[in-house]
Amino acid sequence: MTHKTAVAILFGGCSTEYEVSLQSAYSVISYLDQTKYEAHLIGITREGTWLYYQGDIDRIPEDTWSSSDCFPTIISPNRTEHGLYLMRGGEIELIHLDAVFPVLHGKNGEDGTVQGLCELAGIPIVGCGMESSVLGMNKHLAHTLVSLDGIEVPKSIHFKRVPTQAEQLSMTSGLTYPLYVKPVKAGSSFGITKVGNPSQLEEAIHTAFSHDDTVIVEESIPGFEVGCAVLGNENLIIGEVDEIELSDGFFDYTEKYTLKTSKIHMPARIDSQTADRIRETAGRIYRILSCKGLSRVDMFLTPDGRIVFNEVNTIPGFTSHSRYPNMLKGIGMTFEEIIDALIRLAVEG
Ligand SMILES: Nc1ncnc2c1ncn2[C@@H]1O[C@H](COP(=O)(O)OP(=O)(O)O)[C@@H](O)[C@H]1O
Ligand SMILES: [Mg+2]
Repeated sequence: MTHKTAVAILFGGCSTEYEVSLQSAYSVISYLDQTKYEAHLIGITREGTWLYYQGDIDRIPEDTWSSSDCFPTIISPNRTEHGLYLMRGGEIELIHLDAVFPVLHGKNGEDGTVQGLCELAGIPIVGCGMESSVLGMNKHLAHTLVSLDGIEVPKSIHFKRVPTQAEQLSMTSGLTYPLYVKPVKAGSSFGITKVGNPSQLEEAIHTAFSHDDTVIVEESIPGFEVGCAVLGNENLIIGEVDEIELSDGFFDYTEKYTLKTSKIHMPARIDSQTADRIRETAGRIYRILSCKGLSRVDMFLTPDGRIVFNEVNTIPGFTSHSRYPNMLKGIGMTFEEIIDALIRLAVEG
């Protein structure tokens, strides 16, 4: 019998995007090639408890998984052990791991914390490592680095503590409304407000500060948002470009997961030269931020054809109908092939 690659799939997470992770992880687990991979499912509760899960996978998207069939587990930071400890029936078991696949979104999962733990443990991790995860999660740091390479980013300012009203007005006086006020580290549009005039600024800043300790305020970019799926370490596979068509407001949490008034066009309704420029820019951004494995690079395309960087999602939404796999399907990769390629990239380095 050939040796199967042992992969720990992490799901849930101590993050506002816990629910999103359950959906993503369900797809990843369902499409994992069982003949090649031995999956070890590790659920992380909203409170941050790590549990080895042995129940039915249908209970993951329903969020009933943690009520039974769970055992306390931890990834050992000890490089000579290269695995996880499982506490079952009074016994402690060590399970060897060939890779960890964090299907976690947002804080405590996509932000470099779990990546750092796995790097310390010497266990290959699927996707970006600690450094690029930290950079990708921090909109201010990512913008700063990307702009140093000559790629356009929205004009912005940031606050490291709650500003007084006078500070709010003086700091934002050089920016043209409407503005986006965002937590520097968040996702799924949590804590983001589009602000039409200065009277709405204070509330928006307080909302953003309730999600993070640093807040960025940036000018709104006209046009529309485009995304680009990138996969690879040295050699990059770059998918089709997609386009978000909004009819109202912005791509907030409800719109992202219901698409009530917005639409995603894959491929984007743009000419092929523009799509090539977007793909090329996405690849550059991926390398500037030292990404590995995968990332979805989001940009804006302005009416006069400029490409403006928005953000990198180092663990993008990963259900079988999510944007990242769809853009790769656009160039002929199936969901199974994407998962297989990502685990191989992690294990083979
Ligand atoms: N500078 C901007 N100009 C125009 N729209 C923006 C801008 N920043 C954010 N948005 C809108 O808000 C949405 C969420 O912002 P984003 O920075 O992508 O945060 P998240 O990490 O939560 O996805 C975007 O998809 C877009 O619709
Ligand atoms: Mg976004």
